[in-house]
Amino acid sequence: MEKLLINLFDYEKAAAERLTPTAYDYYASGGGDEITLRENHAAYERIKLKPRVLKDISQTDLSQTLFGQAATMPIMVAPTAFHRMATPDGEIATARAAAAAGVIMILSTLSTCSIEEVAEVTEGPLWFQLYFYKDRAATLSLIQRAETAGCQALALTVDAQVWGRRERDVRNRFRLPKGLSMANMVQTGKESFPESDGSGLASYVTWQFDPTLNWKDVDWLCSKTRLPVLLKGVLHPDDARMAVEHGAAGVIVSNHGGRQLDTVPATIEALPGVVEAVGNRLEVFIDGGIRRGTDVLKAIALGARAVGVGRPIIWGLAVNGEKGAGEVLKLLRKELELAMRLSGCSSVADITKDILISGD
Ligand code: FNR
Repeated sequence: MEKLLINLFDYEKAAAERLTPTAYDYYASGGGDEITLRENHAAYERIKLKPRVLKDISQTDLSQTLFGQAATMPIMVAPTAFHRMATPDGEIATARAAAAAGVIMILSTLSTCSIEEVAEVTEGPLWFQLYFYKDRAATLSLIQRAETAGCQALALTVDAQVWGRRERDVRNRFRLPKGLSMANMVQTGKESFPESDGSGLASYVTWQFDPTLNWKDVDWLCSKTRLPVLLKGVLHPDDARMAVEHGAAGVIVSNHGGRQLDTVPATIEALPGVVEAVGNRLEVFIDGGIRRGTDVLKAIALGARAVGVGRPIIWGLAVNGEKGAGEVLKLLRKELELAMRLSGCSSVADITKDILISGD
């Protein structure tokens, strides 16, 4: 009998059986000893809920507006690279699943389908995640292509100009399987990894990404686009304050899924400091370790407008392509809805700190 997959952890186990060990390791791994990777989810387990009772919870409204765009729930598809390593249709499958679920997908610069290919198949809201290349013309071209394709926001990743050391990728000498490339970079000749002894991706980043990236480049980016700019990878409250000063519209509290600097705190532990620093001046998002509806509930209660989900979407793709990614989003939606009802929240606006036990 087919094993029932009833939560996101089941999807990870099933995906591990289907992917090659090298591909699974690439998706699953974290930096260094993977302490932050484990903490990202473990920290949610330590936060306890304090539900309210005797509220009419017969109707629940999960919808949320993000930069004026309607989403059916406060959950987004976080940008992750190389979806065609998990399923033949790659990011096209992901975009279709996100659109069917009514959620925003953030497409990675390092996607294996191009921005144009993805935008063409989806009516759903699409944001673009930007990596900054040493080649400024290549960076500008990505910004313009994202705008032309109809992307509605740009998320500049600010925590990965230098690559975290993911030891599993080093051991596996990770590179893209034959036939796959970084589809957005084909026009610039930067679509494949250079020769290297260790992680091919780490060598690519050293070769191509601009380690001088700084606040002046954020100003430059804001001057080159009419789209809202988010900074992805902010943990320090002072950086969040500077994001406001430099014209960002939002920040994503993220540690890159524990793949960059190991032993930084879980993102849910960094969230309150960032929210306190920026108040209502920015929209604050979070990703990392979201595996349960209660995790989403806790992140919203602590001030996030929405959460991003990374690996679980890939597990869904690996198990059953577009349908699998869609199932993952459905499961999370059902869990969030149940968590809201059981804690007495009928809408996202009802989810406040009042439902958390604080001080621990
Ligand atoms: C990522 N992440 C990422 N971030 C980004 O800005 N650009 C990218 O191309 C990628 N690629 C990528 C690949 C893989 C396999 C993973 C796991 C992660 C980070 C991602 O956007 C997000 O921050 C984390 O994935 C969130 O953590 P969870 O949900 O995977 O625990």
